[in-house]
Amino acid sequence: MRLLSNLLVLGCVVSVYSARQRRSIDLIAAHSLISQEKLPQDVTPNGYHLTLQPFPIYGYFVGTVRINVTVQQDTREIVLHTHSSMVVLDTAVSQIQPPADEIKNTEAAESEQPSPSSLAVESTSKVAKKPWLAIILQNEAKSGAILEVFLRFTGSLFNDTSEGLFRNSYIDPLTKETKWFVSTYMRPNLARSVFPCFDEPAYKVPMVITVGRHKSMVAVSNMPLEKTEAMEDWKDWVWDTFERTPPMATFSIGIVVSEFSYLSYNISNENDLELKVWARPDYIVALTNVSEKVMRSLEILEELWETPYPLPKLNIYALPNYQATKAADSWGVLLFKESELSGKGSWHITQELVYQWLGALATPFWWNDAHINNALVRFITAYTTLKMDENETFNNWPMTTLYSIYYEFSKRYPHGKSTAIKQDSTSAKTELVFRMLNYTLGESTFKRGLQRFIDDRKYKTFFSDDIWLCLTEQAKFDEKLPKTITVNEIAASWITKDRLPVVTVRRNYDENSATISQRVYLRERPHDVPDQEKFVWWIPVVLVRQDKLNFHNSTPLVWMKREREIKLEHLPGKEHFVIVNPEEIGPFPVNYDATNWNMLAQYLCSENRTKIPVHTRAKLLHDAWNLAYAGDLSFATALNMTLFLKNEREYLAWDPVFTLIDHIGKHIDSSSVHKKFQTYVRLLLTPLYEELGNEPQEGESDGRAHLRSSSKIFLCQAGYKPCIEEAQTAFRKWMQSTNPDEGNPVANQYICPVFKWGTQEEWDFGLQRIVNFPTSRKQNERTYLLKTLAGCPNDASKIERLLNITVLEQNGNFTDNDVYLIFSMLSGGANGYTSLFNFLRKNWDVIKVRFEEKPHLWNSLVTSATTVFKTQEGLDMVSELYVERQSEFGTADFVIEKALRNIKEETKWSNDNLPVIEQWLDGYLRVNDAVPAN
Ligand SMILES: *[C@@H]1O[C@H](CO)[C@@H](O)[C@H](O)[C@H]1NC(C)=O
Ligand SMILES: *[C@@H]1O[C@H](CO)[C@@H](O)[C@H](O)[C@H]1NC(C)=O
Ligand SMILES: *[C@@H]1O[C@H](CO)[C@@H](O)[C@H](O)[C@H]1NC(C)=O
Ligand SMILES: *[C@@H]1O[C@H](CO)[C@@H](O)[C@H](O)[C@H]1NC(C)=O
Ligand SMILES: *[C@@H]1O[C@H](CO)[C@@H](O)[C@H](O)[C@H]1NC(C)=O
Ligand SMILES: *[C@@H]1O[C@H](CO)[C@@H](O)[C@H](O)[C@H]1NC(C)=O
Repeated sequence: MRLLSNLLVLGCVVSVYSARQRRSIDLIAAHSLISQEKLPQDVTPNGYHLTLQPFPIYGYFVGTVRINVTVQQDTREIVLHTHSSMVVLDTAVSQIQPPADEIKNTEAAESEQPSPSSLAVESTSKVAKKPWLAIILQNEAKSGAILEVFLRFTGSLFNDTSEGLFRNSYIDPLTKETKWFVSTYMRPNLARSVFPCFDEPAYKVPMVITVGRHKSMVAVSNMPLEKTEAMEDWKDWVWDTFERTPPMATFSIGIVVSEFSYLSYNISNENDLELKVWARPDYIVALTNVSEKVMRSLEILEELWETPYPLPKLNIYALPNYQATKAADSWGVLLFKESELSGKGSWHITQELVYQWLGALATPFWWNDAHINNALVRFITAYTTLKMDENETFNNWPMTTLYSIYYEFSKRYPHGKSTAIKQDSTSAKTELVFRMLNYTLGESTFKRGLQRFIDDRKYKTFFSDDIWLCLTEQAKFDEKLPKTITVNEIAASWITKDRLPVVTVRRNYDENSATISQRVYLRERPHDVPDQEKFVWWIPVVLVRQDKLNFHNSTPLVWMKREREIKLEHLPGKEHFVIVNPEEIGPFPVNYDATNWNMLAQYLCSENRTKIPVHTRAKLLHDAWNLAYAGDLSFATALNMTLFLKNEREYLAWDPVFTLIDHIGKHIDSSSVHKKFQTYVRLLLTPLYEELGNEPQEGESDGRAHLRSSSKIFLCQAGYKPCIEEAQTAFRKWMQSTNPDEGNPVANQYICPVFKWGTQEEWDFGLQRIVNFPTSRKQNERTYLLKTLAGCPNDASKIERLLNITVLEQNGNFTDNDVYLIFSMLSGGANGYTSLFNFLRKNWDVIKVRFEEKPHLWNSLVTSATTVFKTQEGLDMVSELYVERQSEFGTADFVIEKALRNIKEETKWSNDNLPVIEQWLDGYLRVNDAVPAN
């Protein structure tokens, strides 16, 4: 094999299969989807010859496989994976080479190559409760023998999902005929539904694939076609046999049989790559710009890895009716949804190309190693996308990811009990750890470390540790890390905890020094997380100082080596600020003393603002208000950090403001400060919105479009008059239509402002539409309407009316689910839950009887009505109710007790912060000459 001949081991990891068992960072010990049970290792595969003949019209396939295996231990049993849907028709086993010691004996007698001898099979059967097939031999096969296992089988083509071996169809626009196609998507472990095999990623062996097809179709697989032969018994059918693949995991197998058209390109890389882009004939014109993206992306990736794209062919398909949520990344065969492939951006394509190296060429040993693989793929995808087009904001990478993990990991209980959220946030965090390493080790060291890794592990498998090890060795080589530090230790301190740190910088302005301390970042209250003192991280202290402003040097001044506190000397004097962790180099927020914050606030308000790059501006703002929200910083200081927005027009810097308005707004909406806050919001956003204009401009950036729509939504919520009038005008069209129940002509964005700020008549009209809602229309439109009717209103009378109708009068147009939804919407704002509380208190006895048989509704009502108060007044109300009805809460007893604890916590927050916020707002409104409206 040409590809294999240049295997070259640089030596950062020297290990053999059997020794590769341990690793120190387990991202998530048990993959929720895939059982940890490994196949017995008595027999292991050396290679496959797979032959498949799919019949798309009839929905099934037949096939055979010859598996060359080595017996590792004397055994009568050969165990492989199969799927429950597969039927095995025939089994045969033969010995193609006896164990070495037997060869010696035979050689003494006659020096001929031993001919294959068949081994009698006693039985072939599926193993109960496992996705396994067991072949039992009559006599023991001896350790060291090489066998060939032959199986003939049949199975159904998947037709409602795009996985395993599946079929789908489309209509030919010219002939109106139905055209079928067949394709594969084996990840993570569906090769077993296509043929019996050792379906574990660690078994990487060469494969020869033969596909039977009708002459009218074209078959494509991982490797180039080697030969086509006519079928003996089938007129118009042929066998296509493809070249032997390099060693690969079963999940990398890719086959497509179709009548698609293609565009073909030659890419002159080291392997003279042939690229084909395939689609149904009338879609192919939409894909003319795909090749350019692929070439550009490959160029960057080949440079990054210093390893050419490993196969001689790359086939990319736009599949009609493709059902999977993620594109399929078989080796050399990529499948996309049509719209995804023809779409604007390039990161979808890049991501699947990254998997060609990380996954196909070097393969995670087991499913839990796949997490680190995916996180690295995410980082490299971002890296490549940003290099390809500086102008593609790429979902504001990394800010969106970063903010979401800041919120998640600082919760009292991170990711609740959801494994899916846990996996997602852990993967996001690991991606950001790679980003941190790129910055702190430097891009060239980081790249060379990855090159070492891929060079060492190509055509093989790897553990998470292998990546850290290669980065460590390169960092040591380049002298980017002190001798005693390993990347593994650094990474482990971040990845193994469901927490993130917050770093606090306290400057001593007399000594030009600072103490830097770390602790667990907790944002949601209460902060009584056990064992907090045990959490410490390896933290890079990258520091920018105002007197030598330089955002290009991302080498840490020092690493906090799991130290709680360190001291820095030789800092600037009291007239200059410092910024620690600029550009969000590490995923952690940073707090300062008030003097440093104020210097930053003032600098940001000056014409020099843009000398601080936009990601850092965003970070300063985001950290400030979140630290205040967490109780670690005065709101007066944090709100001062919003003053620079007056001149700011970049979306990235504005982005944190919208969550600020949302989170803080919700928190204070029961108090008198809320009106002042809304005025502040209007003062902040109105100039921005007016400058952006109401209508999109031609060719404007995504960022600008986002900024417009976000500022509009938040202005509407804050009662900005022009917006409410616009919404009411749109709503009036609906009210005046002759048959309003036929459909809703009002854009969703207008509905909430109308129900919130509009008239009783408008709201009643909405309610009537729910009552009359025809079953023929889409129910999610009804749900949206109901949510806004309950969740948006400012005045109590509308809410009371809704509750009277649904709960007391038990109007037949509302189901239990509707009532449940109404309760949960009401808990979203002070008007809602206060009205709900009053309603519950007033009608206690009636409701109690109504919900006697519906404990879930009762619990949900008590939860929504009592748990979300945030002030002393609310605490008093709920406490009184508790005293009044102490013995009558029934199933909701636990709810009310927990509610009282929460409200006490929130009340403390309100008592501490509301006066400060109010005082700041008063000052702000005075300076801006504004009085709170309405
Ligand atoms: C079976 O695999 C062994 C080990 O890789 C190899 O030496 C042998 O040539 C293979 N035999 C056949 C018939 O493919
Ligand atoms: C999909 O396959 C199942 C079983 O193989 C069959 O019952 C069903 O009718 C098929 N559906 C379609 C849409 O072909
Ligand atoms: C990015 O945008 C700038 C200004 O709009 C433009 O000059 C430049 O060519 C764009 N770069 C790319 C790679 O599209
Ligand atoms: C990698 O680090 C370098 C600094 O060494 C930085 O300029 C570059 O933007 C970083 N790349 C990514 C994708 O974060
Ligand atoms: C802005 O920066 C320049 C150059 O460093 C400096 O001279 C000027 O005083 C700064 N302006 C403010 C308001 O800080
Ligand atoms: C907020 O900024 C103003 C004006 O720069 C300043 O006078 C005030 O002291 C700052 N407040 C706090 C709490 O830092």
